[in-house]
Amino acid sequence: MPFIIAIDGPAASGKGTIARALAAHFGFHHLDTGLLYRATGAKGGDPVAAALGLGPEDLGRDDLRSAAAGQAASRIAAIPEVRAALVDFQHRFAAQEPGAVLDGRDIGTVICPHAQVKLYVTASDDVRAARRAAELGADPAQMLAELRERDRRDTERATAPLRPAGDAVVLDTSTLSIDAAIADAIAAVARVR
Ligand code: C5P
Repeated sequence: MPFIIAIDGPAASGKGTIARALAAHFGFHHLDTGLLYRATGAKGGDPVAAALGLGPEDLGRDDLRSAAAGQAASRIAAIPEVRAALVDFQHRFAAQEPGAVLDGRDIGTVICPHAQVKLYVTASDDVRAARRAAELGADPAQMLAELRERDRRDTERATAPLRPAGDAVVLDTSTLSIDAAIADAIAAVARVR
């Protein structure tokens, strides 16, 4: 049976960096599921058709990392039919040997509730805004407002809201270096693996 690591958390919490590092360390596949929602939102038109028709060319677009793409993603991510259209792809990805790391908002709660390891990665709002501002070369105050709006939409939606799974290990990266956060995550997986 493949080994699954589910990583959830708000934007700019460090979950993507941790997911990539875990995949490299354990030799697992990695899927940034936020990219599926960003690509669906960026495609335009009927979002359910866009989600069902996603191809490699959609996922490779270079405008997907922008704050605007994040906002568009969180709007279409609240539509239950859009989420349902993306489930199969994520399940097939998670079934790959020897294992897979998926990061997003609902991996431990909805997509892979039987994952062997669940991490909920978080950080203070100010730290997350500063990180995202540095990454995108944007204003921290503006990033803070943007992140809070997106977090609110992601936590308050009716379908698959962002929240830690009951059995998730919570990792607060506010005061951790990247290396320390990765070491903690590897230790959490190694306890089970
Ligand atoms: O992780 P990222 O910031 O790229 O995600 C963009 C948006 O996609 C999130 O704000 C959220 O609304 C949505 N998303 C989701 N479920 C996931 C991954 C992302 O609803 N598993």
